[in-house]
Amino acid sequence: MSRLGIGVIGVGSIADMHLGAYAANPAVRLMGTYDIDADRNRAKAETFGVARAHDTLEDLLADPEIDAVSVCTWNNSHAELAVAALEAGKHVLVEKPLSRTVAEAEAIADAVRRTGRLLQVGFVRRFGANTQVLKSFVDGGTLGEIYHARATNIRRIGNPGGWFADSARSGGGPLIDIGVHVLDLCWYLMGTPRATTVSAVTHNRLGNRANVTSLSRYKVADYDPTLSDVEDLATALVRFENGASLLLETSYSVHAPEDRLEVAVFGDRGGAELEPRLRIVTEQHDTVLNIDPQIDHLSFDFEEGFANEVAHFVALCLGEAEEVAPVGHGLEVMRMLGGVYESAALGREVSLT
Ligand SMILES: NC(=O)c1ccc[n+]([C@@H]2O[C@H](COP(=O)([O-])OP(=O)(O)OC[C@H]3O[C@@H](n4cnc5c(N)ncnc54)[C@H](O)[C@@H]3O)[C@@H](O)[C@H]2O)c1
Repeated sequence: MSRLGIGVIGVGSIADMHLGAYAANPAVRLMGTYDIDADRNRAKAETFGVARAHDTLEDLLADPEIDAVSVCTWNNSHAELAVAALEAGKHVLVEKPLSRTVAEAEAIADAVRRTGRLLQVGFVRRFGANTQVLKSFVDGGTLGEIYHARATNIRRIGNPGGWFADSARSGGGPLIDIGVHVLDLCWYLMGTPRATTVSAVTHNRLGNRANVTSLSRYKVADYDPTLSDVEDLATALVRFENGASLLLETSYSVHAPEDRLEVAVFGDRGGAELEPRLRIVTEQHDTVLNIDPQIDHLSFDFEEGFANEVAHFVALCLGEAEEVAPVGHGLEVMRMLGGVYESAALGREVSLT
């Protein structure tokens, strides 16, 4: 079996999931890492048994033993790094969101076309077992035509601080960070219809709530509580060309009694909740049925999701799989996210066509 040489660019928090999944994959050789933080780069390469910790990006991209890379850096460098890797002849798995802006996403899509290399967008939740099971029910017609979806990802004390709260590096707050997951899941299950309009509101009322000590929170690798110029709540209605609608609500900080994750799709023959746990609803003989699939993880499981995502990327690069999260999907999601920010800034509905 031919083994795929892998490099990882950006070795902060989420890179651990990539490195761990690659290290456990027998079709892979972990050949190189690069990070602007040289100490972190060396330490991570050692922890995961990577062949080389490169001193520069150019070094890593020039390594002929690296066939493909994961880009796990701050959002502001996704486009520059993905394009450079594609132009160096590497296949690319880029973390979500594809980029900070629509223009950056278009530049990546152009580079994919130009180079003929593969790019997979890190929509890891598409690779959760619960999503894969539901997708097979959707594709099999159990839900009929999906005409409405609800995408909710609410954290009450959930601003990770540091670059996530610095719009110059992140491109935005909870919308582009965690809203993107639930928006994408709904849109994927709906069959990726073209979005036509967005009407949205964003708020920045509570900031990062660094003052709260009663609850623990996830903190980014280089935590800095003084940064906070992103929205703390975003809500939107997206319309699609097939008449379908999607309601989105996402926050880092809101006075809610608990965090809330909800992904639900509604069709003319059935419906389903993917999160907080997979349940499918349909109707037979004038009777409503709740179907409870029997699988190990009814909610998204991080280990399983990243293992599946990485295994799929490896198989794709080896020519053994079809694309599940192509660059065009990342670009369309960026168009919707850009529409949300534009609509909120203008205070009115905007057209995406
Ligand atoms: N799929 C998921 O569920 C998930 C979860 C968390 C984060 N992410 C995404 O992963 C990416 C990284 O997030 P994180 O939480 O690991 O952040 P992080 O800050 O912990 O790690 C990012 C690393 O990238 C390095 N870096 C920044 N710019 C660089 C550049 N130009 N070249 C090389 N290295 C650079 C930093 O030094 C840092 O070590 C983000 O795009 C984020 O949205 C995805």
